[in-house]
Amino acid sequence: MTTYEQLFENNKKWIASMKEKDVDFFEKLAKDQTPEYLYIGCSDSRVPANEIMGLDPGEVFVHRNIANLVVSIDMNVMSVINYAVANLHVKHIIVCGHYNCGGVKAAMTPKDMGILNPWLRNIRDVYRTHQAELDGIDDEHDRYNRLVELNVQEQAINVIKTAVVQNSYLANRYPVVHGWVFDLKTGELKDLNINFDEVLHGIQKIYDLTGEFS
Ligand code: CO
Repeated sequence: MTTYEQLFENNKKWIASMKEKDVDFFEKLAKDQTPEYLYIGCSDSRVPANEIMGLDPGEVFVHRNIANLVVSIDMNVMSVINYAVANLHVKHIIVCGHYNCGGVKAAMTPKDMGILNPWLRNIRDVYRTHQAELDGIDDEHDRYNRLVELNVQEQAINVIKTAVVQNSYLANRYPVVHGWVFDLKTGELKDLNINFDEVLHGIQKIYDLTGEFS
């Protein structure tokens, strides 16, 4: 177990290792950020965004919350998406869930979770939207894994519903939104291959905010 004091020792070692790779690393880091990617993932300590993608500081803008949810009235995630698209001009937005997600598991459990109820309700709504498919899966663990994937898919669609993403895509053909799942048992990232154009066209009748498609 790492002690609290060790964290500062670790920090010194990390500084040294980064400088060893590039002596000007911190001068460059302090100048500006121009990340190509926005990553929206789960807060789970086992899914560190930069590390699983092999990216250095400065290369990915990150937002994490319980079960990687994109809720339209959550000012936090909406501010992150708006800033990443309008100011940082990210080319890709990745929603990344993970198997064995405690948040998704909790949403599958019929129990009063107190303050977490309204948050987990978003996942229960994903279940309801895909109830026919999910109820058709007999094995509980397989059903749980599938809900993790469907939750990622629905949250990616929620990103596509935002005005800032729709307007930027219309003008620039980016950002493209992706849905991934991280497998804790193997360390692998699985691309759910969400067809961005198809999803955008599919939801435009109801969710278009650009006025271009009416
Ligand atoms: Co999780």
